[in-house]
Amino acid sequence: MSKILSKKYTYIDLFAGIGGFRLAMDEYSDHNAVCLYASEIDEAAQKTYELNFNQKPLGDIRKINPIEMGYDAPDVVCGGFPCQTFSKGGYQAGFKDSRGTLFREIIRIIESYQENYRPKILILENVQNLVSHDNGETWKTIHHEISEAGYNVVPKPIVLAPKDVGIPQLRNRAIILAVRKDIYSKPIDLSFDRVKQNTLSIKSIIDDTITPNQKKQYKISKEQFDILKCWDEFIHIIPKDKRIIGFPIWTDEFGRRYNISHFPVWKQYIINKNRDLYKTYKLDIDEWMKKWKIRESMTATNRKFEWQAGKDINSVFDGIIQFRTSGVRVKRPTESPALVAMDHRPIYGPEKRFFTPSEALKLQSFPADYKFDEKEKEIFKQLGNAVNAKVIKVAFESFINYLKKRVRE
Ligand SMILES: C[S@@+](CC[C@H](N)C(=O)[O-])C[C@H]1O[C@@H](n2cnc3c(N)ncnc32)[C@H](O)[C@@H]1O
Repeated sequence: MSKILSKKYTYIDLFAGIGGFRLAMDEYSDHNAVCLYASEIDEAAQKTYELNFNQKPLGDIRKINPIEMGYDAPDVVCGGFPCQTFSKGGYQAGFKDSRGTLFREIIRIIESYQENYRPKILILENVQNLVSHDNGETWKTIHHEISEAGYNVVPKPIVLAPKDVGIPQLRNRAIILAVRKDIYSKPIDLSFDRVKQNTLSIKSIIDDTITPNQKKQYKISKEQFDILKCWDEFIHIIPKDKRIIGFPIWTDEFGRRYNISHFPVWKQYIINKNRDLYKTYKLDIDEWMKKWKIRESMTATNRKFEWQAGKDINSVFDGIIQFRTSGVRVKRPTESPALVAMDHRPIYGPEKRFFTPSEALKLQSFPADYKFDEKEKEIFKQLGNAVNAKVIKVAFESFINYLKKRVRE
């Protein structure tokens, strides 16, 4: 049997975004793999992709007909498809199907080739929630449809985050790996050696060559500083050994007694915890609330606080901070929260500034010379949408090595 893949394999990059998969494929193949085409509907992302890879992605995947367009079947299909709920009913009694969804487009492209000429390997990616989405029905449907197209699929998506491959970012993703059944048909029991979390440090991505001017540019505002100072004082009201706070702080509940029995249990739990905390430190908390005019001048979201750093740090400014809709969140400086978009951009506490685009590139394992022709807001949106390139490379490499060991060359 021929090799699973030579380093000169071909692939297609579906739902390409700004090329997280492409970077992984380039890196794995030492730049020998050839991308036959990419597909991406968003014009700004297309522009960034072309700027970096010199290949303009085709647009809407629904308009791609590979046979009519004269494309040979690629060896590998990559795709970070958007998650959608699948319809009830369908071609099998009681089984949902994916007709009309973007996932189905991947299957359509694969099935446009005759069975033994179909791509050898599939690597698809989605949010972790895919595994439990719609009580597991979405995953069952996906598994079923890939399998029906002639593939041996991992029984469960592999959940992997940058932190598992040594990059200090929390960002669990579900990765689906599949191989054509005529190449390998035994159950796939792939496992990963994950990097230990306590070996990570955010310092590895912090840019220590940042100029004073840039520091100024990314500095948090005076208002943001005051809010953080206020929460820093709050955390010092609680003795250090009691700072493992397993619930969000909701100051609106401090000193309140209204009936909460009609609330869901989880909410009653949080409220009761907050009321108890208030009673324990009442004198200090009253003084703090008065000093900072919590109820009079803070917004509803900033009146909430999530301390997720336990006893590991002694100040808000020692952590990684985010202003979120659920409140001000502080985490240990071991890893960054998942990059999402500009609005929730993490703050590096020790320097009281937001992460810069070059730090965001490192968090996503994109090269330092990756180019953007965009405003910063768009850069963070595109990077927040992207997949971490190293996560894909490690998953792909492990899968190919796994298959190579089991398939006689
Ligand atoms: C989760 S993102 C994938 C990001 C990519 N993995 C990366 O590294 O940047 C999904 C992408 O699918 C694109 N998309 C959505 N509908 C599409 C369609 N009909 N055709 C092609 N691309 C589409 C979105 O614009 C988005 O960039």
